[in-house]
Amino acid sequence: MDQTTPTLTAWSVTAYGGPETLAPVTRDMPTPAPTEVLIRIRASAVTRADGMMRAGVPRFARLVIGWSRPRHDLIGTCLSGEVIAVGPDVTRFSVGEEVYGMAGLSFGANASHICLDEAGVLMRKPASLSHEEAAVMGDGATTSFNFLHHIAELRAGERVLIIGAAGSLGTAAVQIAAAMGADVTGTCSARNAGMVASLGANRVIDYTVEDFSKSSERYDVIYDTLGISSFREAKRVLTRSGRYVCPVLNLGLLFAALRTTAFGARKARFSATGMLKPEVHRAMHEKLVDLVEADRFAPVMDRTYPRAELVEAHRYMETGHKRGNVVVV
Ligand SMILES: NC(=O)c1ccc[n+]([C@@H]2O[C@H](COP(=O)([O-])OP(=O)(O)OC[C@H]3O[C@@H](n4cnc5c(N)ncnc54)[C@H](OP(=O)(O)O)[C@@H]3O)[C@@H](O)[C@H]2O)c1
Repeated sequence: MDQTTPTLTAWSVTAYGGPETLAPVTRDMPTPAPTEVLIRIRASAVTRADGMMRAGVPRFARLVIGWSRPRHDLIGTCLSGEVIAVGPDVTRFSVGEEVYGMAGLSFGANASHICLDEAGVLMRKPASLSHEEAAVMGDGATTSFNFLHHIAELRAGERVLIIGAAGSLGTAAVQIAAAMGADVTGTCSARNAGMVASLGANRVIDYTVEDFSKSSERYDVIYDTLGISSFREAKRVLTRSGRYVCPVLNLGLLFAALRTTAFGARKARFSATGMLKPEVHRAMHEKLVDLVEADRFAPVMDRTYPRAELVEAHRYMETGHKRGNVVVV
């Protein structure tokens, strides 16, 4: 009889630093709590947010993830896999079902297995998405859905500029904005111009030759997916009631968001999508899956690495030039 204790394999970060701080670890297989499911992970995303958590930057994020070292050492946020055990009170899922979702602030998605609460950001995986595609839906797709629908309140017929249109958030944003009936302009380098246009952008600005803020164009919404512009420069090309939205918080954006809450017709806004309630995430996923099934949305996939090569995947992700999404399988 086999007496070995079942184990899971994962990646651990015990001190903030570069990709080389990631260490492979083996742990006892967790038993699902009454409302949890145990998932065998087939694919998990390698995101810019994972890189920030590994490095502990920006520093104020450490108030949430742990001041001197990560509060939860296992890394990874978004995953897809199949349910292999359920707690006694689980009602939404059963063994054998394919699911995808987010690990939340306890992380641990770049692993072989994970236990997640059924009330969290956990959904049945539609057949229209592969495990790799489903694993990245919690990054660019939901973030850009949140920013365009809820934060910018983009409307059909409006003009939107997407800065960083070739990244995870950007490739999702171009497709979502086009599906919303907006007139889409995206910025990227020449090598990605064709891809961005094929995703639904009406115009592409090559940021290496043209500065969007010096143009005579006007936009109702500017969505800076990378946090590389400022509200001050964006204001020049925003319409009178234009909205500048950005998922990368810095002091300039914070002050602009606070100031424009009370003053001025043009607004600057930020949101931490990961902190939204699970039911808000699940509702966004439902709408995104409708788009997938209507052939209006597909996650753009860049490189796939074996999970054993997570360090290499982090190095690539941190070049700042991935196209869409990176996963480990
Ligand atoms: N607040 C939130 O809710 C939230 C949620 C998720 C992520 N985030 C943050 O969002 C940010 C973006 O993440 P991401 O995964 O989308 O980034 P990413 O995929 O790493 O972005 C890479 C892309 O950026 C493009 N790029 C680089 N420099 C550029 C420039 N100067 N102008 C225009 N495009 C440029 C590159 O295109 P080229 O190769 O063509 O240059 C590349 O395709 C991260 O900082 C992440 O932490 C925030």
